[in-house]
Amino acid sequence: MLHSPVLLEESIRYLITNTSGKYIDATFGRGGHSRKILDSISKDGVLLALDKDIEAIRFAKENFKDKNFSIKHSGFEDLDSINIAKQVDGILFDFGLCSTHYDDPSRGFSFNEAGPLDMRIDLRQPKKLEDFLKTIDAETLANILYQYGDEKESRKISHAIIDSYKDGKILNTIDLAKVIKKSKTRLPNKIHPATKTFQALRIYLNDEINNLKIGLNKSKDLIKTGGRIVCISFHSLEDRSVKQSFAPKKISYPKEIPLNNEIIKEFKVVAKKIKPSVTELQRNRRSRSAIMRVFEKI
Ligand SMILES: C[S@@+](CC[C@H](N)C(=O)[O-])C[C@H]1O[C@@H](n2cnc3c(N)ncnc32)[C@H](O)[C@@H]1O
Repeated sequence: MLHSPVLLEESIRYLITNTSGKYIDATFGRGGHSRKILDSISKDGVLLALDKDIEAIRFAKENFKDKNFSIKHSGFEDLDSINIAKQVDGILFDFGLCSTHYDDPSRGFSFNEAGPLDMRIDLRQPKKLEDFLKTIDAETLANILYQYGDEKESRKISHAIIDSYKDGKILNTIDLAKVIKKSKTRLPNKIHPATKTFQALRIYLNDEINNLKIGLNKSKDLIKTGGRIVCISFHSLEDRSVKQSFAPKKISYPKEIPLNNEIIKEFKVVAKKIKPSVTELQRNRRSRSAIMRVFEKI
């Protein structure tokens, strides 16, 4: 099944302010948002897309033949090194993974089908989940599960993972999910018991929160006055980092300098905490945690 784009109508309505403008889709995925951008701009408008995953790049090359479209195999944390002149009209970030990542067990994100202990978004990255499990200690792992997965039973799970891994009992993602399930005393009703742990491991391994902050900071230099940055997040850590990235900056002077403290506001909030409609929630379960924020350069 292909990925179903989240908040599609709403995000593109906010993003496009000039139909002959320059746009960046920083997270191409399977191109749901890119397609809509291309359908909304004129032939004079251009769209550059990025993705860190080689599968997304292959998909784009096969399916997106539009003359005003190009794609680069790159992380948005390297936005400053892409070949696009500044003065971009809009940049879209749709964070996280695509459904296709979970559907392909060979990528190691699925707890429903056995796959390798991998979980890399960018296959050029040398460190896989397996390499990380070989070296991590129980306390560090527990902190990661708590911080990135909000997993309340992080200590128990962490010890179970490390002991079972050392005993050679975790050879694939199903083994890992079973160990997590067995170590929990309280099983959640609505989600798989391994959901939070898998999420935490993935976010940590791919350095997702750090990259999000770097990517958003770099996007501020590319966007023109009146241009917009649209961010779709899927959990509170992402959303908080998005909000903080665009918060006005305070400049405080030492007492001996006779200047008032200043607040520098580079962006105004155009939309905050936009959530999917009931119809979208019914159609696409993955959209249930989505939150969109839109910022405009002033
Ligand atoms: C939620 S999906 C995007 C879906 C897309 N909007 C669509 O409609 O098909 C997120 C995508 O971001 C990519 N990604 C994750 N981290 C990235 C990063 N640091 N830089 C670029 N792409 C990244 C993932 O590989 C994935 O394809």
